[in-house]
Parts: sequence; C-alpha cells; structure tokens
Amino acid sequence: MAHRIVTVFLLGLVADASAMTHAQAMTRLTAAGMSVTSSGGCSDRNNPTCTSFEGVRENTIAGLETLKRASACPINVTGGTETGHASGTYSHWNGYKADISLNACINSYVTNSFTYIGDRGDGAPMYQSAAGNIYAKEGNHWDILYY
Ligand SMILES: *[C@@H]1O[C@H](CO)[C@@H](O)[C@H](O)[C@H]1NC(C)=O
Repeated sequence: MAHRIVTVFLLGLVADASAMTHAQAMTRLTAAGMSVTSSGGCSDRNNPTCTSFEGVRENTIAGLETLKRASACPINVTGGTETGHASGTYSHWNGYKADISLNACINSYVTNSFTYIGDRGDGAPMYQSAAGNIYAKEGNHWDILYY
C-alpha cells in the first residue's frame, strides 16, 4: 500500500517535470519565431476556441522548435492542450500534440522529408519523421504527435 502511494507520487513528479505552463511555452515558441493563433483570441484550456499550452510536454515544444529550425518555414501554431480534441493517452489534452496551419512551405517540407505511413482512420494522411513523430494532414492543419 505504502509502495503504491510512493509510486503514484513519483509518477506525478515525473509528469510534472516535463509539463510547462502556458507562459513558458509561449516564450519558447515566440522566441523561436513561431506565431500562435487562437480562433477565440484566448488561452483558457477549458474553452475549445482557445489555444492553450498549459500542461504541454516540454518535448512537444522542443519538437516544434526543431521543426521550425529544420524547415525554415513559417510555423503558425493553432492548437495545444485545450479541450475539444480527441482524447487518449497521446492526446492534445495530455500535452503530446500540437496543431499548425498548412502552408506551401511546411506542406512540402513534411511530405518530402518524412515517410508516408498510410492514412489515419479519419482519412488524414500520416507522415513519420526519423525521430518517430507523426504528422497527420487534416483539412486545414497538421496535427502533430510528438512522442
Ligand atoms: C494562423 O492561422 C490562423 C487560423 O488558421 C489564420 O487565421 C492566420 O492567418 C494564420 N496566421 C499566420 C501568420 O499564418
């Protein structure tokens, strides 16, 4: 019993160690030259029209930084940890995903640099980077999963 409590406590610490606040993530994204847009002009993660990075994994922000640097394309981030996306372990809510707008530069970079691995259940074509991250092309954005 005590063991289990200690384990749960330690897992909590591990999760917290990689989780960032919205402000921390915004500082990193804008410093790297990325724009962040929300249709509602807000950052409340409990409102689906907002774009929030509250609780995002540091690895997700680092992945966006790498994409920006490697592609040299405009990157417009439109989705983070806010509610309203599909649930699951590797979800937006849990900090594993980000959405970015489509543009000719980034579309070409993703489709030419990464490997097409088939279509998702919803029909979105998926491309996988050498690092294992998955870029799914939805109607008006790339839905990116950073493992
Ligand atoms: C970012 O994306 C939003 C939503 O798609 C769009 O309205 C806006 O023009 C984009 N901004 C830039 C700089 O691409």
